[in-house]
Amino acid sequence: MSRAMLRQILDYSHRADPYPLYEELRRTPVFHDEDGPYVVSTYYEIRSLLHDPRISSDPRNLTQPSSDPLAQEDGGDSALPPVFLKLDPPDHDRLRAITNRPFGPPHSPRKVHDMRGELGGIVSGLIEGIVDAGSPERIDLVDQFSYPFPVTVICRLLGVPPEDELRFHGWADTIAAGLDPDPDADPTERPKAAADAQMELGMYLAGLIGERRKEPGEDMLSQLAAATDDPDGSMSALEAISTAALLLIAGHETTVNLITNGMLTLLRHPEVLRRLREDPQLSVPIVEELLRYEPPVQLLPRRSTIDDIEVAGVNIPKGATVSLILASGNRDPKRFENPDRFDPDRGDIQHLGLGSGIHSCFGAPLARLEAQLALGELARRLENPRLLEDPPPYRRNAVLRGPRHLPIACDGIRP
Ligand code: HEM
Repeated sequence: MSRAMLRQILDYSHRADPYPLYEELRRTPVFHDEDGPYVVSTYYEIRSLLHDPRISSDPRNLTQPSSDPLAQEDGGDSALPPVFLKLDPPDHDRLRAITNRPFGPPHSPRKVHDMRGELGGIVSGLIEGIVDAGSPERIDLVDQFSYPFPVTVICRLLGVPPEDELRFHGWADTIAAGLDPDPDADPTERPKAAADAQMELGMYLAGLIGERRKEPGEDMLSQLAAATDDPDGSMSALEAISTAALLLIAGHETTVNLITNGMLTLLRHPEVLRRLREDPQLSVPIVEELLRYEPPVQLLPRRSTIDDIEVAGVNIPKGATVSLILASGNRDPKRFENPDRFDPDRGDIQHLGLGSGIHSCFGAPLARLEAQLALGELARRLENPRLLEDPPPYRRNAVLRGPRHLPIACDGIRP
C-alpha cells in the first residue's frame, strides 16, 4: 500500500494540489507494505524522527534490495565524496561547521544581514528588466524573476563568475530531477544522468577552487579552498568540491519555488497581497506561513533506520527506508488549527518547511531574506497583478515542487 501511496504522491497528476492525498495519508501516520518504504505523514512523528539519532541520512545505510529503484538514486558511482546533506555525525557536523564559518554565527554573524542591500539591488534590477521587456500583460514570473534571483545570489555568494551562471541551469535541473524517487523509471537511467551532471559540475568547481587557492577573494569558494589547507586538516579538496556543488544546487532549486509559490498564493489571497503592499514588514510572517502552507521541499524520500524504532505503534526495523512527507506534516490538524487556511496571522508557525534537527536548512537565513525582499518588492511595484493561468503548469519534480512557469499580467510597474 505504501508503495502505491508513494507512487501517487510522485504522480504528476497530483502536482498542482497534493494536499487531499496527504489528508488521506495522515489517517495512517506510518504507512507500509512489504517491500516499500515506511511513509510518515503526521507532524509530531516526522519531527521526532528528524531529531532521532537512530535515523540516518547516509544512503549507504539503506538495505533495500538492489532491484528497488528507491535504493539506487544517489548516483552512487560518483567519484566525489557524499555531500554533508547525506552524511551522519561526525562527518556531517565537521563539514557543516567548516562550511558555516564564512556564512553564519559564530564566525560570520552579520554575513546574511550585510547582504540585504545587495539583494535589494538584484531584485530592483530584475524588476527593471521586466519593465524593459515592455509587456506587463504577460510576464513569466519564474523565467523573469524567481529563477534568476536566487541563482544570481548563490553564484555571487560562492564567487562563480556571472557569465557562467547559465551553464548551471542544465546541471542543476538534472541533479534536482535525480532527487525524485521514481518507482516506474529504469533504475539505471536517471541516476546516471544525475551522476554525469554532478561530475561535470564538480570538474568545473574544481577548476574555480584551484584558481581561488592561488588568488583568494572574499567569496565562499575562496574560504572553502582555504579550509583544505587548514593545519587541522579539516576538509579534503574533494569534500570542498562536493560542498560547493551542494550549496549551488540547494541555493538554486528551492528558493525559486518559495518565491513562485509565494506569489501564486498571494494572488489567490488578494487581501493579504494588499496588506503586504501597505506594510512590507508583513513579509516576515507571510514567508513563514508559506513555508508551512506551500513548502518547496515536499518530502525527504530516503532516510534509513540504523536501529529498530517504534513510531505511532509501528515497529520500523533496522535498515528500513523511511520517507518523511514534510508538506503533509505542515497540514496536520493535530498540530495546526485550520491547516488548509493560508493565514500569516496564525502566530505559531513552527513548520517543517526547512526541515528540523541536525540537517535543518543551512541556507535558511538567506532563503528567508531573499523571499521576504522579493515578495515585498513584487507586491509594492506590480500594479494590479493577476494570474493568467490557475493552476499554472508545474515542474515534474515531486520532492522540489513548484510551478515551471507563472504567467501573470499587471497594469504597469510602479517606480
Ligand atoms: C526556500 C528555500 C529553501 C528551502 C525550502 C530549503 C529546505 C531545506 C530542507 C527541508 C532541508 C533539510 C534536508 C534534510 O533534512 O535532509 C535543507 C537542508 C539544506 N539546505 Fe536548504 N532550503 C532552502 C534554501 C537553501 C539555500 C539558499 C541554501 C544555500 C545557501 C541551502 C542549503 C542547504 C544545505 C547545505 C542543507 C543541508 C543541511 C545539512 O545536511 O546539515 N538551502 N534545506
